[in-house]
This record gives sequence, structure tokens and C-alpha cells, in this order.
Amino acid sequence: MHSRPYDIVLFGATGFTGQLVFDALLKKQSDENFQLAIAGRNSEKLESLRESRSAPEVGILQADSGDRESLEKMAKQAVILINTAGPFNWYGEAVVQACVHMGTHYLDITGEPAFVHQVFSKFHQQAEEAGICVVNCCGFDSIPADLGTWLTARALPIKEPKAVRAYIRTNAAFSGGTWTTAIHAIYKRTVHKESKLSSGPRHPETPRMDLSIHFQPLLQRWAIPMPVVDPHIVKRSARHLPEDYGQAFAYGQFYTVGSFWKVVRLIVLIAMVFLLVRFDATRNWLFRKFPAGTGPSEEKRKRSRFEVRVIGETAHHQVETVISGGDPGYTETAKMLSQAAFALRDRLVKQRLVVGVRTPVEALGQDLVDRLIHEGIHIQTKPFLPIVNT
Ligand SMILES: NC(=O)c1ccc[n+]([C@@H]2O[C@H](COP(=O)([O-])OP(=O)(O)OC[C@H]3O[C@@H](n4cnc5c(N)ncnc54)[C@H](OP(=O)(O)O)[C@@H]3O)[C@@H](O)[C@H]2O)c1
Repeated sequence: MHSRPYDIVLFGATGFTGQLVFDALLKKQSDENFQLAIAGRNSEKLESLRESRSAPEVGILQADSGDRESLEKMAKQAVILINTAGPFNWYGEAVVQACVHMGTHYLDITGEPAFVHQVFSKFHQQAEEAGICVVNCCGFDSIPADLGTWLTARALPIKEPKAVRAYIRTNAAFSGGTWTTAIHAIYKRTVHKESKLSSGPRHPETPRMDLSIHFQPLLQRWAIPMPVVDPHIVKRSARHLPEDYGQAFAYGQFYTVGSFWKVVRLIVLIAMVFLLVRFDATRNWLFRKFPAGTGPSEEKRKRSRFEVRVIGETAHHQVETVISGGDPGYTETAKMLSQAAFALRDRLVKQRLVVGVRTPVEALGQDLVDRLIHEGIHIQTKPFLPIVNT
């Protein structure tokens, strides 16, 4: 771990999420014993951040995602680089490229499907050849869904076709950076008609997955399908680990709300956003609504909760994994990303690293589950109610 000046470099440290990740790393510095640097495009901002945390031992590296040389210089000094500078569709690719060129392991918190596909198709082979591990989606996107589905699938009989559904519930708010990223992704999808992303071949016995809005009687809540990045990550884990998921595996993900009126309200809001992103003036107005660098207050984050219930079924068995914790997007994301970096470091030291572009489950599996439980995130797999034939 000491072949380079820093064990971990945090790029994007000055952002709303980056600062929380910095705090999460600092909290663990004496337990985990690692050399840390923060990086970003603005040295003054980085210095005042370091000063505000009274952490003179932390290094500072200046790098801009538009300047390849600065990115390579930064990547060369790190064993593991963690990236919170988003939107990743704008700033991410050059950072991954610098890490692949410099032989630096890479983790991020993107939630952008197009970026995730691009990283896999462009860099998987290069990362394998360079002997490094690249892991996207190490935040609330997609750690609970990916780990929860893996734990659920492994508790079901391997040979039976499986249908797994994740139901997400939260009262959390989002940051300006998340909002900007989402608006940009919707704009690309609706105006530029970005091509539909393939999720790989389908086994003939794969159960049918109904992805419509429905009332889920087991939870007594309305379920709305979520076209987010998680299903892409979960299905990639399943394709790459058939010994855990079996050959015939279907996955669907839903956001749940307590009443039909909340469903209607959400649909109207989403439809309005899809309409407003089409025109320059209204899109710019949307961007200004939640400016970059801002986010939910500490009080709001303290009141926020999430619960992900991953229910898996075969013809004769039902199992569920429940993952729950505090504020998903920021407080818990900071925990997830920093613990993912430590889990990757453990694997590196123990020479158990899986190289290439990997999902959180492929790269970190049980090591990450154990670490998150230790950090207070509730994760439990148990038999679900028996199926009642009517
Ligand atoms: N997956 C998840 O669960 C999850 C959770 C939280 C956030 N996110 C994602 O993380 C990203 C960041 O969110 P946020 O709320 O923290 O955003 P933010 O507050 O706007 O922070 C953005 C960061 O990117 C940096 N940056 C911008 N342009 C750059 C450039 N050219 N070169 C280097 N750095 C640059 C900014 O630096 P300056 O300070 O110098 O402007 C800042 O540090 C978003 O894409 C969001 O969707 C994902």
C-alpha cells in the first residue's frame, strides 16, 4: 500500500457530497491507518476545506477534469482514487481514463446509466490488462440494490428460476449536484433520444417481470417502477456470477408510496420535468432551482431514512433482504463510498482483488456487507411469508 504517496485520493472533495465523504474518511483515519489527499480544480477551496477540518496531514492535489495532464499527475500519486465530481457524464470519463493509464484503482458514486455503460465498454479490458479494479455506483446508487439482490439470490435454490423485486422507501431530499445530474440525464434521453441500453441476453426460463405501477399487497404500498441505474448494475452482477444468481434471473425495482394520490402527484411532477427539459429557457430555470454545491441541511439529513426490501421468489420459496439506514443520498452514501474504498484496500492487501470494471458485488461482496453492518447499516436476509395460493 505504500508504493505511492497516498493510499486514497478523494477527487471532487469540495462538492456537497465530497465534503461528507472527506468527513467519513477522516473519522476512520486512525482505525484504518492510511495516507489521504483531497483533490479538485480549485486549490484555494481545497485548502480552506482542509483548514476547516483541522487536518494539516491531508495532502492537496490540484486537478481539473478538462486537463488530462493534471488528472494523470493526480492518479499517479494514489493507490485508490475515489471520485465524487459529477455529473459523471460531463467530468467522469477523463478521470477513469487517467486511472487506467496510471494503474490506479477507481471508485465513484455515479448514478448515470449511460456513463456506467460507457465505462464498461471502453475500459473493462484495459483495466484487466492494467491489473486494476474500477467500480462505479458505490453510493446509494447501487450498493443497497446490488448487495441486497446478491444476498437474496444466494439464499434461494440455485437451480430454480428467480424473480427478484426491490422496493425502495425514503423521505430524503437531494443535492444540487444530484438534481443537475438528473436533469441532464433526462435531457439527453428525451431530446437526444439516447439509444436504449441493452441488458444482455435472456435465458428462456427467466420469469416474466411486470414493470407497471401496482399496489403491492405484501407491503400495503403503491409501487412505481424506477428506470434508474440499479437494474443495470444488478443484472450485470447476475450475468457475471451465475454460480450465485442461477441462469434464469429477472429483476425489477420500484419506489413505493403510501397512497394512490402520491402516485398521481409523482407522475405529474415527473411529466412536468420531462416537458420543461425540452426548452433551453425552462431547462436553465430547472438547473437554477437547486444550484450545484448545495444540499439538504444536517437537520434534514438527520431526519431522513431509507429502507430497501429485496424480495426474491422461486416456484416454492420466498426470501427477503432488508437494508435500511439514515439519509441515503449523502450521509449513508459517504459511509458506503468510504467503506467500499477500505474493502477494496483489504482485498488488495490480501491479494484477493478482482480486476476489470466491476460491480460493487463483484468487486467487494461479503467484505462490504460486513463493513456496512459494522458501520450501523441494517442488513438482514430472512425467509419471507409463504406464497398463498388463492
Ligand atoms: N449515487 C449516489 O447515491 C449519489 C449520491 C450523492 C451524489 N451523487 C452524484 O455525485 C455527484 C456530485 O454531487 P454533489 O451534490 O456533491 O455535487 P456538487 O456539490 O455540485 O459537487 C460537484 C463537485 O465536482 C467538482 N467539479 C466540477 N467541475 C469540475 C472540473 N471541471 N474538474 C474537477 N472537479 C470539478 C466541483 O468542484 P468545485 O467545488 O471546484 O466547483 C465539486 O467538487 C452528482 O453527479 C450526483 O448525482 C450520487
